[in-house]
Amino acid sequence: MINAQTDHSWWRQAVVYQIYPRSFADGNGDGIGDLRGVINRIDHLRKLGVDAVWLSPFYPSALADGGYDVDDYRDVDPLLGTLADFDELTARLHEIGLKMIIDLVPNHSSDRHVWFREALAAPKGSPARARYIFRDGLGPDGSEPPADWPSIFGGPAWEPVGDGQWYLHLFAKEQPDLNWDNPEVRADFLHTLRFWSDRGVDGFRVDVAHGLAKRLPVELPPWSELRTRTGAGQHPLWDRDEVHDIYAEWRAVFNEYTPPRTAVAEAWVDADRRPSYASAEGLGQAFNFDLLQSDYDAPSFRTVITENLELAARSGSSTTWVLSNHDVVRHPTRYGLPPLGAKDPDSVIAKHGADWLRSGGTEPKLDRELGLRRARAATLIELALPGSAYLYQGEELGLHEVAGIPADQRQDPAFFRSGGEQIGRDGCRVPLPWTATGSSYGFGSGPAHLPQPDWFAGLAVEVQDRDPDSTLALYRAALRLRRELQAEESLTWLDTGREDVLAFRRPNGWTCVSNFGSEPYPLTADEVLLSSSPLDGDELPGATTIWTRPA
Ligand code: GLC
Ligand code: CA
Repeated sequence: MINAQTDHSWWRQAVVYQIYPRSFADGNGDGIGDLRGVINRIDHLRKLGVDAVWLSPFYPSALADGGYDVDDYRDVDPLLGTLADFDELTARLHEIGLKMIIDLVPNHSSDRHVWFREALAAPKGSPARARYIFRDGLGPDGSEPPADWPSIFGGPAWEPVGDGQWYLHLFAKEQPDLNWDNPEVRADFLHTLRFWSDRGVDGFRVDVAHGLAKRLPVELPPWSELRTRTGAGQHPLWDRDEVHDIYAEWRAVFNEYTPPRTAVAEAWVDADRRPSYASAEGLGQAFNFDLLQSDYDAPSFRTVITENLELAARSGSSTTWVLSNHDVVRHPTRYGLPPLGAKDPDSVIAKHGADWLRSGGTEPKLDRELGLRRARAATLIELALPGSAYLYQGEELGLHEVAGIPADQRQDPAFFRSGGEQIGRDGCRVPLPWTATGSSYGFGSGPAHLPQPDWFAGLAVEVQDRDPDSTLALYRAALRLRRELQAEESLTWLDTGREDVLAFRRPNGWTCVSNFGSEPYPLTADEVLLSSSPLDGDELPGATTIWTRPA
């Protein structure tokens, strides 16, 4: 076995488990998940068999955007614990051989960050305002916004501060965009990278990595022009070429450590722009959200897989596979709804399930069983692919999205800022069920900060732990086998004679066969190692994936 401490490429084919800390486990019963909760449940991660944890933001925050509004980049939210708890968690993860990846949110701070408070207190044109993006309003008294741009969560992207100036926030108004042309901003983030790396953090997930570098012309273009403007690397707001100068500086810091600290970019950019984020001179890896945006459909999966292996080869990085995260409808639910068809050209973020959420979970009709069956099949494909896989907490339980959260209990700013047009992401952030009973199904000794549905009881960790056919058992078996079978980062497609059946083989013979259709597919003489659903004699049923090796 490879020694992870000295292995500089541990991340290339790692399985990373995303923890959304306020919803994972609550250690003190106040209804909000915390670091003690994660420490208490660390055995779940060990038994699951993942290689690393990615901790979504745990920093002090007023939770205007689930913690992606950071008050202080170098501290822990007192509701979640202390720096000492953080160190303990990191040490405990390391003890059981897991890496710690933390979420870094550099595009914007929160409006409670000391810098933003200083900016508000300081006059127009001051150095304090130069750390953010302030502009004069239009009209004689500056009471009109500098431009008509909408924020990603709905509502305007410019907010007035009362003296004729406005600041830019591409997300919620509590998330002012930082000015990355400012040397002080740059230096401070290098400090933050070292602060956490010195504490033993192994890697960083970089939020909105394609947004940092901006070039706003004096005359701000209207949104009608901006939204359609592309021109690789030259958009005023997104994916500018200069953003890579920032990551080159970060890379120098990452490489001060042994093994070098890693990073993965959350960059919603065209596929052919991804390799620069993933290059060894930059962040080193970039999320590929193509599977997450793809319908459950064999030709789509095949295209996505082929394209992304080619892109990874171009950057020298490994590719990343994601089926669910804290921003999208969970994949069992997506796969149990009618296919999305073509992507919405106006939206980078997958919208699959949006109508269903808006209807409170009634329209269109969700086939829960089929959705889960397909999700299990898709997961076995994901875990057999070359590269690394990012799992989202709760997917190992086969959880569906929670619909029908009452409006007065919703938390996502997208819901409020869009006037309810976007239901938002609360449905995948509902606290996890650990036990079949208890006030919050074992999430904590008290309540849960988002309402949990009754069906959580049957899917609790303790229930699935006893059931060899559970989704939890499948994930555990798959991760154990994956470790044994792991091979070089390539695959060969096998001819299946059917468009709805995909099969690929890794260089050591590890083979994955997936039947996306409904007609059974005859098995070969190969030894079956794992199956996402029970086999039917010597046939592979529909919506089922198997792992095999030559007999
Ligand atoms: C990223 C995060 C998302 C957050 C947004 C703004 O897309 O994944 O949860 O709302 O950035 O920080
Ligand atoms: Ca708590």
